Amino acid sequence: MNKTNHITQDVHLAVEVLRRGGLIAIPTETVYGLACLASNSHAVEKVFLVKGRPKSHPLIVHVASVEQAQKWGVFNKHALQIAQAFWPGPLTLLVPRTSLVPNWVTGNRDTVAIRIPNHEVALQVLNILDDAIVAPSANKFGKVSPTSAEHVLDDLGSEVELILDGGPSSIGVESTIVECSHTIQILRPGAISDLDIEHIVRTKVSTKPTGLSRAPGMMESHYAPKAKVVLCDSSAQSLAIKEILITQGKTCLVIDENDQKHLATILYSMLRDADLLHVEVIIAVRSADTGIGRAINDRLKKASAQRPGSDSI
Ligand code: TXA
Ligand code: MG
Repeated sequence: MNKTNHITQDVHLAVEVLRRGGLIAIPTETVYGLACLASNSHAVEKVFLVKGRPKSHPLIVHVASVEQAQKWGVFNKHALQIAQAFWPGPLTLLVPRTSLVPNWVTGNRDTVAIRIPNHEVALQVLNILDDAIVAPSANKFGKVSPTSAEHVLDDLGSEVELILDGGPSSIGVESTIVECSHTIQILRPGAISDLDIEHIVRTKVSTKPTGLSRAPGMMESHYAPKAKVVLCDSSAQSLAIKEILITQGKTCLVIDENDQKHLATILYSMLRDADLLHVEVIIAVRSADTGIGRAINDRLKKASAQRPGSDSI
């Protein structure tokens, strides 16, 4: 089979595949997702298999409207305010689940993660389907998320029935995950910040999650390319490190970009390109820790974390 045949813009075909329990890749504004019907246990099982993901990391339910979301989750006043302010958009709400939510979606947890993506193609699929899908990022577990149809093709190839091409993801890092129960806490930083949310709910939003909830990409090593990632705080430092590594005969790539929004859109492509070019060390200059810069720094930190079985440089 010619693998590029997988890539299509045919939304109706995508819906047909989903309805009969197939797996597709779907574009969103954050990253591409590996989607199937949330209600189909066999299809959801396959998503875990294809990703190589442990069941202890549950899936985000994607829906088309706040009304639909309320069938899956219990929204208190603040959750509703957040949903209305930021959906469709790059924010996932973690709320208590309703009895409709099957265990295979939440990994037996009593909460469910829900979002409405802000991407025309994803919204078309959800509206025609008139049902919820689950969609983890369409990469192998622990690896870098895909921000284009080609990235998905490289990672999952023929393991999905088709890849719906909606162009490059406009944001480029995964959604902000916000737990909203008696307290509001950010479990994974994204394009929408604690300050953005505080502005809406007029109460404190914590950025230091506590307690059990707290699976989301919270392992030390995640979003990891093959190359080692070294972090530093300035352009001058990055060049000094580069010089040392070059004298050791290592191939390096420097990521140093001041425009945070732009950096978010190219970050995962750069990490992937480094691997394609067999770069040994990626030297990345940390972003300012504000806005989407926090999400960038979070992903860089996880990409740079010591991986099991690897040596330090
Ligand atoms: O931007 C995004 O959120 C993308 C796009 C495709 O929508 N999706 C995404 O999904 O990043 P995923 O599965 O790669 O990351 C979701 C994270 C996982 O770490 C998962 O463990 C966590 O959310 N999660 C999902 N449901 C949860 C729950 N009920 N309790 C705690 N963590 C949960
Ligand atoms: Mg992911």
